[in-house]
Amino acid sequence: MSDNLDPVLLMKQEVGRVAASRVKSDSIVGLGTGSTTAYAIEYLGILLAQGDLKNIVGIPTSFQAEVLAKKYGIPLTTLDAVDHIDLAIDGADEVDPQKNLIKGGGAAHTREKIVDSLADQFIVVVDSGKLVDKLGSSFLLPVEVIPMAISPVMRKLEQLGGKPELRMGIRKAGPVVTDQGNLVIDVKFDSIDDPAALEKTINNIPGVLENGLFVNVADLILVGEVKDNKPFVREF
Ligand code: A5P
Repeated sequence: MSDNLDPVLLMKQEVGRVAASRVKSDSIVGLGTGSTTAYAIEYLGILLAQGDLKNIVGIPTSFQAEVLAKKYGIPLTTLDAVDHIDLAIDGADEVDPQKNLIKGGGAAHTREKIVDSLADQFIVVVDSGKLVDKLGSSFLLPVEVIPMAISPVMRKLEQLGGKPELRMGIRKAGPVVTDQGNLVIDVKFDSIDDPAALEKTINNIPGVLENGLFVNVADLILVGEVKDNKPFVREF
């Protein structure tokens, strides 16, 4: 694994490593998306190469996860070929005290929700900066929308009290296009008081594919911390 002294990267690296070390041989693993999970995928590859882990197959939650899995030698499968997922490892953008999440900073929350919610155990890997008292405090809520429905969905989200904005690409002209060919609206809500209700209400708007609220999906939150430049991991 690469060396660096950036505290956030140190936390991400360590929590990714600890999560990967919980994977057992002969298991089917959901491979999440994002910079933290990327370290878990890298470490899974190292464990496989060392022979400390045998016979695992991954189910990627995005094109990014698929590319990383191939790079680190993790065999892949699909949901058509398996009847369960033993463990999923994935990051989050916010985690509240009830272990509810906002995800979708990487526009991958639709596939992530499918894979993470199917797993017997879903382990979330975050650095300590992701912990919030209330969801929506620091991060906008991502909503994946079928392109032709962008305008009516934006109006509905405004009626729900949100301030929607179309996510634009960086180093790419125009909007972000998801792995499914859709667009993402990021919504600012002043306060998300009932994440379970909001998750359902938004998903009920015609044209919405999935939103980034993950309610009652996470089993375990692993939090990376740094003290005196040394990373460690605690269970939340
Ligand atoms: C991908 O769409 C997201 O849900 C990521 O899992 C989330 O944004 C966490 O990413 P980082 O680990 O890069 O912060």
